[in-house]
Amino acid sequence: MVKKGRILSGMRPTGRLHIGHLSVLENWASLQDSYQCFFFVADLHALTTSFDETENIRENIRQMLADWLAAGIDPEKSVIFLQSKIPHHAELHLLFSMITPLSWLERVPTYKDIVLQHRERGKDVTTYGFLGYPLLQAADILMYRANAVPVGEDQLPHLELCREVGRRFNHIYGHVFPDPQALLARVPLLPGVDGRKMSKSYANVIELAATAKELQTGVNSMVTDPARIRKTDPGHPEVCVVHKYHGIYRADELSGLEAECKAGGIGCVACKRMLTGTMEEFMAPIREKRESIINNRSYIDDILEAGTKRATEEARRTMDMVWPKVFKG
Ligand code: TRP
Ligand code: SF4
Repeated sequence: MVKKGRILSGMRPTGRLHIGHLSVLENWASLQDSYQCFFFVADLHALTTSFDETENIRENIRQMLADWLAAGIDPEKSVIFLQSKIPHHAELHLLFSMITPLSWLERVPTYKDIVLQHRERGKDVTTYGFLGYPLLQAADILMYRANAVPVGEDQLPHLELCREVGRRFNHIYGHVFPDPQALLARVPLLPGVDGRKMSKSYANVIELAATAKELQTGVNSMVTDPARIRKTDPGHPEVCVVHKYHGIYRADELSGLEAECKAGGIGCVACKRMLTGTMEEFMAPIREKRESIINNRSYIDDILEAGTKRATEEARRTMDMVWPKVFKG
């Protein structure tokens, strides 16, 4: 099949992913047949904020890759690699740092917010490396001359900067880099069990690797309509986390469930039991696949090694175009 072009995307190695990440992974997986895909673990990016807490990074990489593979990222179809194993990323980042005005980086909308967030937790990330985070990301993307980058909305400013840097390079030295487009996926937003944004730092997640028991505990702890005391009280499903999940996992039955809740015809305990059942059916095969992967250490290592080898060829090809443009003659 003729592929539509090349896609690149990556994630920082945050360890085990949660079920909110699943739709991102499903989106990646669905692109594998129509595009040539490069998916990588951004472990250098992890250093921008965790430079002094590196002891978990290796294990986090392994746990995250197990999630990727269990969710359908297929090493037969996609190139899966580790950023830090390809020194060309650092080279291109350095060259980009020469041509990027500081003001472009300071103006990235998320920059000041994230610095403040870390400061509240007592961490100073006003480093050279953290300011350059989006520039390293630009190097990741442009290195593989990607045509499209599947990202969440939060990453759009980074992608915009990437395109500006690519254009500036092409303008100063001569054309090397295509202009990558953002591929925004419609990712349904799953709240955490407490109704806030699902995030490890809020301890409100259900992990992709959750056991059947952990899944049940997670669903049971979901926040429901606080106005419902007895199960015959009319409910307000629109404020209920369980209801939001039904909307994703049991979309076909949503209107019936909603009506029953509003009429006081179903209790929250039964409603949660139904959700647990549906989610378990959905997650059991993923969990099984994940278990066989995580217990086979060399499997993940071999995939990364082969992918990194393949990505290195491509990175070298790019740098072989880049250097003669920079140092001419
Ligand atoms: N910044 C991205 C995130 O936090 C991770 C990332 C690094 C990335 N390099 C990238 C994503 C290149 C897409 C393309 O999710
Ligand atoms: Fe939520 Fe279901 Fe209870 Fe209604 S019955 S409040 S939807 S858990």
